[in-house]
Amino acid sequence: MAVFASEHPLVKHKVSLLREESISVKSFRELANEIATILTVEATTNLALKQTPITCWSGTISAPILANKNPTLVPILRAGLGMLDGALKILPCAKISVVGLKRNEETLQPESYYQNIVADIEERTAIIIDPMLATGGSALATIELLKSTGSKSIIALFLVAAPEGIEALQSAHPDVDLYVASIDEKLNDQGYILPGLGDAGDKLFGTI
Ligand code: PRP
Ligand code: URA
Repeated sequence: MAVFASEHPLVKHKVSLLREESISVKSFRELANEIATILTVEATTNLALKQTPITCWSGTISAPILANKNPTLVPILRAGLGMLDGALKILPCAKISVVGLKRNEETLQPESYYQNIVADIEERTAIIIDPMLATGGSALATIELLKSTGSKSIIALFLVAAPEGIEALQSAHPDVDLYVASIDEKLNDQGYILPGLGDAGDKLFGTI
């Protein structure tokens, strides 16, 4: 597995703005989606192409078209929805597979409450989106669910990732590439990322 931490200056700038304690819900939503757009561009640079005949104004040419079905975006509810519009900006035809997980704040284990995965998952690259990779429990559960339903190609995008979560994913699923806007320092005793963003779901949904 490879871990790609974005080097884009706009990503770094926007992550810094996201960290502001007094950020409004509106700004948090906008920035999360803007970063998601850039991460989606960075994560899709290796999608396969095939030369295809295209009839254009000057006649028929052979032009590069995506070789496979569009990827499916996989937001982990609920905070993953905060990156969905941004990812859809450059993948407007993507099918959406939804995974509902809520981390138990005592045990830090993810508890599943909903799932709806596209039927032809084995024919699509699955792109998991979630603002936070903390212990890695939620991402691990999502990857295991996707693989159990037939997924063969998985990429995961996070705004902020803790080294502990990266390590957990790397050892369990070396075939899954990670694209992150920032690799932060560590987890605190409550499983929150430091310096992190705080509770990303609460900030996106205004439930603080
Ligand atoms: C947050 C976050 C991730 C998870 C990360 O969601 O969006 O899904 O925690 O933690 P982990 O790596 O330790 O599993 P949360 O469970 O708080 O739910 P929410 O999106 O509904 O707020
Ligand atoms: N979930 C969050 O929203 N933030 C963290 O720092 C960890 C888990």
